[in-house]
Amino acid sequence: MEKFEAILVERKGNIAFIIINRPDQRNALSKQVLEEITATLEEFKHDERIGCIVFTGRGEKSFAAGADISQLKTRTPLDVFKPGSMQEVYSYIEAYDKPTIAMVNGYALGGGCELAMACDIRIASEHAKFGLPELNLAIIPSAGGTQRLARLVGKGKAIELILTGKMLSASEAQHIGLISETVPAAKLKEKVLEVAEQILAKGPLAVKMAKLAIHLGFDADMKTGLTVERLAQAVLFATEDKNEGTSAFLEKRKPQFTAN
Ligand code: COA
Repeated sequence: MEKFEAILVERKGNIAFIIINRPDQRNALSKQVLEEITATLEEFKHDERIGCIVFTGRGEKSFAAGADISQLKTRTPLDVFKPGSMQEVYSYIEAYDKPTIAMVNGYALGGGCELAMACDIRIASEHAKFGLPELNLAIIPSAGGTQRLARLVGKGKAIELILTGKMLSASEAQHIGLISETVPAAKLKEKVLEVAEQILAKGPLAVKMAKLAIHLGFDADMKTGLTVERLAQAVLFATEDKNEGTSAFLEKRKPQFTAN
């Protein structure tokens, strides 16, 4: 991990923090940031000790202030289709095998807001600000923003926010359902760790299946979604962890899950 510059990686028990490390550029998401995030996630995918990934930005000002505009300036139409695009990286994060939390410590704008939306859970400090200001640059959000924002907050609100480029406070973002929780900056990490620990206490295969059923089902018709749900449950009913979870409850003890 020491080879990285644009991100920092820290581990606390089974939780890994991926910290965007460009505070002087408000943690703008350069190509290097995206490459380093992808390489880290690829490595963590095979690391059984990691049960939850937290994304955040270095410093107190910014989570991520969007794509690096100096790199954006020279981007051509064909670049949009090259591998490693921000959209591709965020789709990878959304479908990632392990749960992800956006610990939003400041500005989450453009690609920063889109990164947060690709995570499973978003928790922000009170001074965080959210927005998709791409239209100011005469482009549109294209790392999932037009799709994920509408799915999270509804089509009408998404159109308003994207067309106006309006910045929302954390409490406004929570009010419309863009984020789950708002806490004072000093409590942000503590809150994120608490939520991560709650998830880590669950059967890890059930966490994966719940993610899969929700993501696949949300974009499908109800009948398909319910079928995915049933099949996922059928798989879990065959696991040792299901046996352990139910036995532990009946025996009034804590379960010991093994992901089997
Ligand atoms: N890409 C590249 N550089 C960026 C950047 C971005 N997305 N966002 C901020 N920076 C740089 C600034 O150019 C500035 O560099 P400089 O010190 O060399 O002049 C530095 O980060 C600090 O930014 P500044 O605007 O002075 O900080 P601020 O605290 O006053 O404002 C923001 C912070 C996030 C509100 C403001 O920087 C901003 O609006 N950024 C662009 C957001 C955006 O449009 N994102 C979508 C991109 S598609």
